Amino acid sequence: MTIKTSGRSLVHMANAKRLLAWFALHARDLPWRRTRNPYAVWVSEIMLQQTQVKTVIPYWERWMKELPTLTALAEAPMEKLLKLWEGLGYYRRVRHMQKAALAILRGHQGKFPTAWNEILELPGIGRYTAGAICSIAYNTPVPVLDGNVIRVLTRVYGIADNPTKATVREGLWQLAQALVGAAAGIGDSANPPVSRACGSLNESLMELGALICTPRSPLCTKCPLRKACFAFRHDLVEQLPKLPPTPATTRRTTTSFVVERNGQFLVRRREQRVVNGELWEFPRAERQSRGATLSKLARATVGTNVRDVRPLCSFQHSITRYRISAKAYRGTVAKKTGVPGRWLPLPEISKLPLTSADGKILRALLRAG
Ligand code: ADE
Repeated sequence: MTIKTSGRSLVHMANAKRLLAWFALHARDLPWRRTRNPYAVWVSEIMLQQTQVKTVIPYWERWMKELPTLTALAEAPMEKLLKLWEGLGYYRRVRHMQKAALAILRGHQGKFPTAWNEILELPGIGRYTAGAICSIAYNTPVPVLDGNVIRVLTRVYGIADNPTKATVREGLWQLAQALVGAAAGIGDSANPPVSRACGSLNESLMELGALICTPRSPLCTKCPLRKACFAFRHDLVEQLPKLPPTPATTRRTTTSFVVERNGQFLVRRREQRVVNGELWEFPRAERQSRGATLSKLARATVGTNVRDVRPLCSFQHSITRYRISAKAYRGTVAKKTGVPGRWLPLPEISKLPLTSADGKILRALLRAG
């Protein structure tokens, strides 16, 4: 499918003007919006992948304080980076960031590249992130397209095809390009140029998708594109975008064992290749064979007999399509086990990068005393 963009430049120009005017009045005051430093913008955009703005704010602030430059990031121990990222999930992002920082130090004399194609070549940076960095930091007219922007564009332009199809997606990229191109062209005798129009246009699409053009119960009465919006005019807002059904969630149960010996607790590092790789955890059984008793499971997981096994906490959490019922038990052991891991007191464990489930278990342990 091709989405016609030529001959529509007046429509794009009008929409770009409405978006920029709205953004100038309604943009949230987010800390990364007070800088144009490409390193700071990059850090914010990587954190914002799959993560909500309000979650990212304290992480971004802490990161920029601890690692204010590319060199600081390149030289930091991985354990420190994982600790700064603890709770954000998708930890591969951190490893990519350090690789990218090293690539910039080696290949670009330590200066963040300005060309879109050079930014796109860096580890962990795809078309969306390259577009965001380039437009926000350098005001280059390159597009962004993520779930929020797809929702805005499919509704405004009445695109009823499945946006996860590659051809439809490409058409949406072209639309996003046309809009940011229109923003770059704003400025004639009647309309003075808007400063940083390309970055602002892209951020206005993200912002509109996050605040107004929401998946459910969108606030159409407050939308600057209401009059131009195909879905609003045809009462199709709730029908668009036409996404395929999401895959069913899979239920899982995990059982963690918090075992103590002389005031120290056993923790181990997860393998690199698994989800939450290289983060630390209390010994955890991901699966339970049928009929296994709790004490057998504890022995198999910890590598030695566990005495006085008793419940510590239980909670639900989700990772990708898994809905996990997590249970944690505590107990004591008489001798050190053969399983690899470290025996540490709680204050030392608090300093390690833990999975978010193990962070919850640690807090339950601290509360239980
Ligand atoms: N989501 C992704 N990038 C963003 C940004 N720069 N501002 C707000 N939300 C975003």
